[in-house]
Amino acid sequence: LQLLETADYTEMSRRAADIIIKQVKEKPNAVLGLATGSTVLGVYRQLAADHRQHGTSYRLVRTVNLDEYVGLGPDHPNSYRYYMNQHLFAHLDIPLHETHVPDGLAADLDEECRRYERLIDELGGIDLQLLGIGRNGHIGFNEPGTPFSSPTHVVKLAPLTREANARFFPSLDDVPRYAITMGIATILRSRRIVLLASGEEKAEAIARLLEGVVTPDWPASALHLHPDVTIIADCAALSLIP
Ligand code: F6R
Repeated sequence: LQLLETADYTEMSRRAADIIIKQVKEKPNAVLGLATGSTVLGVYRQLAADHRQHGTSYRLVRTVNLDEYVGLGPDHPNSYRYYMNQHLFAHLDIPLHETHVPDGLAADLDEECRRYERLIDELGGIDLQLLGIGRNGHIGFNEPGTPFSSPTHVVKLAPLTREANARFFPSLDDVPRYAITMGIATILRSRRIVLLASGEEKAEAIARLLEGVVTPDWPASALHLHPDVTIIADCAALSLIP
């Protein structure tokens, strides 16, 4: 794993945006794997600003998101599709039909998972996957205990994850109990991975990841099995590194 230490959230976001912009310039039809949540918001802001100021084009780019809540549709303000449209796609020249998020309203969720795996293959695989990390070491919604061999699948969200995400919902009870997520195996098939971490509440997760013990009890540790991972973390997220 390659580690880039940044002073703060803004610098972390800028470094990550620079990597994505470079990828899109080198391969205009790149397949980008994207994440939601608080950590990556700054990256999306930087990408939007760069598109506006320098005209980097996403006309040929394809995107696949990591995950989506089961039961929330594109119009639901807490769905990840809504988040992506709002925070990124509306600010770029990417055709919306080239952006993909698992369908949390699919009638047959297992079939939706298989469709999503096929879709990623048909796109030619993910060139660059952007990741955040959960306090319990989750990547995507792969909670502790998920086999490293897992493809896209339906997950029951861990209580800690539901609590962490409750800040976006009226109450804890409104947080969906299930989600569709790319599996660990799906994530590991990406050609390059960039994981971001910011703030003290991620310090333990980053310390444990960098310790290097590889175990499904700590999903992010699977990244040690990948040849091209860059971790971009700010000082606060690295505060527990000896
Ligand atoms: C989001 C995702 C999650 C988040 C993680 C960190 O698509 O897959 O793994 O990256 O929960 O979330 P934040 O950035 O909100 O702390």
